[in-house]
Amino acid sequence: MEKAFDLQPIVDYVSKDWILGPVHGIEHWKRVERNGLLLATEKVNIKVVRLFAYLHDHKRINDGWDLEHGQRAAENLDNIRRTLLADLTDDEFGMLRRACMEHTTTQRTGIPTIDACFDADRLDLPRVGYRPDPIRMASELGALYAKHNVVANDCSICYDIVERIKNNM
Ligand SMILES: [Fe+2]
Ligand SMILES: [Fe+2]
Repeated sequence: MEKAFDLQPIVDYVSKDWILGPVHGIEHWKRVERNGLLLATEKVNIKVVRLFAYLHDHKRINDGWDLEHGQRAAENLDNIRRTLLADLTDDEFGMLRRACMEHTTTQRTGIPTIDACFDADRLDLPRVGYRPDPIRMASELGALYAKHNVVANDCSICYDIVERIKNNM
């Protein structure tokens, strides 16, 4: 059996120099991870989605219109490829890199793991007062979660709705 991937070194790494507030910080990253677990299907590489949760926003330089933070996050992955990310296959690393690179610029890739990353992030929009728009989600499951308001205004999850959606798929 594959050993469980230990995220703690990654969490420590991204938390160490974080100076911005909670909007794009650890609270957000934890919820993106949680959302990613809810979006997982058999086609989704959950290890990549969990890594994306903690690595996609940590190169932000402000909480506003920083359109290049995804590119900076992606390029920074090259610095930790042989250390913190040494366990990833090239395919996993490539998906993680592309998900970080494109999470602010691309709606959908058709690659289930990358699209789950995008939707995990978008499902946390209620924290800034927006409802996720089903039309703008990347995955079918993400669109259903958005349509049925799985994420409440306080970013908590309505698990009974999740169950109903999953049972009907
Ligand atoms: Fe972002
Ligand atoms: Fe984010």
